[in-house]
Amino acid sequence: MNKLTLKNVSKSFGSFKVLDGINLEVTDGESLAIVGPSGTGKSVLLKCILGLIPIDSGEIWIEDKCVISKDHNDSEKYPGFFGMLFQGSALFDSLPIWKNVAFGLIYGQGMDEKTARVLAMETLDKVGLSKKVENLYPFEISGGMQKRASLARALVMKPQMMLFDEPTTGLDPMMLSVINQLIADTIRKEQVTAMTVTHDMSCLSAVAGRIILLYKGKIIWEGSKDAFFTTQDPHITQFRQGAIEGPFSL
Ligand SMILES: Nc1ncnc2c1ncn2[C@@H]1O[C@H](COP(=O)(O)OP(=O)(O)OP(=O)(O)O)[C@@H](O)[C@H]1O
Ligand SMILES: [Mg+2]
Repeated sequence: MNKLTLKNVSKSFGSFKVLDGINLEVTDGESLAIVGPSGTGKSVLLKCILGLIPIDSGEIWIEDKCVISKDHNDSEKYPGFFGMLFQGSALFDSLPIWKNVAFGLIYGQGMDEKTARVLAMETLDKVGLSKKVENLYPFEISGGMQKRASLARALVMKPQMMLFDEPTTGLDPMMLSVINQLIADTIRKEQVTAMTVTHDMSCLSAVAGRIILLYKGKIIWEGSKDAFFTTQDPHITQFRQGAIEGPFSL
């Protein structure tokens, strides 16, 4: 059974069609990566899947249930199914880092603060954040550290499916390897199904199984990671090389 299925999902903002009939199947345990130029709807796609942005038409299924359509949104019936790393980290400004990470455990699962704090600290350690940050507030740590705290917040919930939006942007090269490895390990060892939006070739190499290319609201290429790195498809070649000249209009 698929973990997630999108059937003909469309979304416009005003007259601008951001998603144009997306069909997508993600199987259990699969690691799917999404690439595409900036502004092409990758983050919007993830937010539609989470039920944060309403869709105009089509259906989004979790396993064998249609959870979201134009007329209904049952996403709240699946707490803990998705873990999300938002592109902008989206930490709570008014909470210290440890409580940001423990938030879902305490307020979602009703776990006592002491136990939740221990779990939060263990997960912060996994993403390479030291004990020093636990009592700091998001504005007191760097962007890369915020990203890692946000990753810890998603991982600590042990969701069935992880959505990563640009997990490695803003990280230094060493931390990039650590986070790539951590995501790859999470997917493999904990058999989490994952969707990862990334522009980063090292992240694709480490994390992706299948890759799709989103452009102007449609999936215009789909293939294995090996195919992505060897194909002569002009869109993929331009994307891989970061070339200015090519079929993408920049
Ligand atoms: N809530 C919103 N209201 C209106 N327009 C929006 C909204 N969210 C996104 N958009 C528009 O939808 C388009 C796609 O945005 P999205 O954030 O999905 O791009 P992206 O592919 O994630 O880009 P990037 O690689 O830069 O993160 C953009 O033109 C953006 O301005
Ligand atoms: Mg985005």
